[in-house]
Amino acid sequence: MKKLDKGIYIKDIVPGKKVTGVFCVGAKNLLKKRDGNPFVGVTLVDCSGQIEARIWDDAERHFEAFNKGDFISIEAEAVEFNQKIQLKINGLSQVPGEGVDISHFLPTSPCDLDKAWNKVERAIKEIKDASLRVLLTNIFKDIGIKKAFKRAPAAKRLHHAYIGGLLEHVANLLDLVKLVVRKYPYLKKDILVAASILHDIGKIRELSWDIPPIDYTDEGRLMGHINIGIEIIDRSLKEIGLNENTGSILILKHIILSHHGQREYGSPVLPMTEEAMVFHLLDDMDAKLNFLSGLKDVAKDNGEGYRWSDYQRLFERYFYLPPEAQELLEKEKAHSEDKKEEPTQPGLWDLL
Ligand SMILES: [Fe+2]
Ligand SMILES: [Fe+2]
Repeated sequence: MKKLDKGIYIKDIVPGKKVTGVFCVGAKNLLKKRDGNPFVGVTLVDCSGQIEARIWDDAERHFEAFNKGDFISIEAEAVEFNQKIQLKINGLSQVPGEGVDISHFLPTSPCDLDKAWNKVERAIKEIKDASLRVLLTNIFKDIGIKKAFKRAPAAKRLHHAYIGGLLEHVANLLDLVKLVVRKYPYLKKDILVAASILHDIGKIRELSWDIPPIDYTDEGRLMGHINIGIEIIDRSLKEIGLNENTGSILILKHIILSHHGQREYGSPVLPMTEEAMVFHLLDDMDAKLNFLSGLKDVAKDNGEGYRWSDYQRLFERYFYLPPEAQELLEKEKAHSEDKKEEPTQPGLWDLL
């Protein structure tokens, strides 16, 4: 079947312009106008982002015409509402799933994922602690786990919420662990490396991502990725005949259980070792910086230099954001080329 033309991407939509394109339905709600008449609120998704849309006329009929996860071809107008772009849909038709190229609708990590996976494989091989090395090797012997680990997002929203996000997050943590153990050589590197790779492995079952939008599975909502991760590890330990709760395995499991740092964030125990403490901080840092990078993308067209994000309810603040990292890097590069300086030390950006 010939694939349908995608049309415009969400990131390219500007207020005042007509919009023609195919999008995936991320959510739909039948809402009420002030006069009591219904309208349809739809969240549309593609690989470049998501956007709110409204269908004002004939709401009940349109509401029944498509479901979450369907692909729809729309004709719409882009308007500005509450400082955000919103679509007013004037016409729509459903598009069969076979008629679309799925890669247009799933956001994907900007990282080189093959390189990131090589980094994980290398890190496993370099683990000196035999129990940890055998455990990790055995887990990834499972082709299904390996395949899912290479594609899973790290979250539904917030951080690394795209295909390959989990692997990108893991590769970042491996780099950060390298930096931290250089400064604090008494920290147990093998434990931190194993924790970087395994702490979020439960996300391969917590989230679904084959069909947009990225969402929680029933198992994920009901159990959470920490519990699922421990289950994956325990099953593997049984396969290789290792004791479940002793030595470095126990310490690793403690980090996985405590990596969210607080009970109200889903960790059943608080970090109680130096490595658990450090790991929680690194994990939190990588997640939060990735979240802020996402805000920079959204704020991209708002002007030059620093700019304010929308109010972030979760963090109870606005963020004051610099130009995109890429822009800064390009500026820096132009500057050093001007001066013909040879970089003496690798910067943080070279290491991450
Ligand atoms: Fe986590
Ligand atoms: Fe994480």
